Amino acid sequence: MTAEQDERAFRALTQKVSAARGLRCEAYKEKCLRRRLAVRMRARGVHTFEAYSRLLDEDTSEYDRLLDALTINVTKFWRNAATWQALTDPYLRELWRARRGGVRAWSAGCASGEEPYTVAVALAEVARALGEEAVFATAEARIDATDVDRESLERTAAAQFPDSAFAEMPADLARRYFTAVAPRRPLPVLQRLVRVRRHDLTREPPPEPPYDLIVCRNVVIYFDRPMQERLFSAFADALVPGGILLLGKVETLFGPARERLTLEDPRERIYRRPA
Ligand SMILES: C[S@@+](CC[C@H](N)C(=O)[O-])C[C@H]1O[C@@H](n2cnc3c(N)ncnc32)[C@H](O)[C@@H]1O
Repeated sequence: MTAEQDERAFRALTQKVSAARGLRCEAYKEKCLRRRLAVRMRARGVHTFEAYSRLLDEDTSEYDRLLDALTINVTKFWRNAATWQALTDPYLRELWRARRGGVRAWSAGCASGEEPYTVAVALAEVARALGEEAVFATAEARIDATDVDRESLERTAAAQFPDSAFAEMPADLARRYFTAVAPRRPLPVLQRLVRVRRHDLTREPPPEPPYDLIVCRNVVIYFDRPMQERLFSAFADALVPGGILLLGKVETLFGPARERLTLEDPRERIYRRPA
């Protein structure tokens, strides 16, 4: 097969997957797509894109397995501990004060829920440090937890976590905010803040702007450059003046949004929309 034929077969296949499952495959990096397709093709013992395309027709459950492979769902509570420390004080503390507790946050690409619950814990810790636990219990804070992957959303909504999810979280925080025995559950005071919904970052505008805090970590890394640029601009639009954007450790803001958001902490990838 020539490189041209391979490219044509690859395009035809990704278009078919996009049309069948409403996921914009074109927005993902081609290398990433090819690697994930190769994983599924190996698993099913087929060697060409055409053969895999036929297999999808014969066994539509393979679409689910392919989408699972495409949406990599690795996550942890308090992932990159130093980042959450830096975010909590001073940034979350300032937002908490400015909003009198009513902080509106969005965890975009939340996987199985560890990230939105990390935001909830960080907010609870800010309140505790200020002696405002009672305010926290009734605060109108909200954390929108969104993902494109249905299974991830079900797990976020179920909010039952294995011990392994806590590997990076300081033990005292895990003890303070979660039940003791696995599967461990966040306390109701945290659960009431998290709202779970399906949302595709490649196709939909931000769910309920404006936000004081947008956390989008280890997601845009899978998207191609034009998609990343569009998303960064959408995040800048969706933030209130003074609002914070947190990206993943290896993700960097670029494009027009770079002019609109200031880099507050280069190491931890914390950006702010000027007030
Ligand atoms: C590696 S996980 C990151 C989880 C979490 N943000 C963290 O850093 O621990 C990537 C997540 O992005 C989600 N994702 C991939 N494509 C997406 C899209 N188009 N829209 C929304 N979420 C998407 C995946 O389903 C997956 O849950």
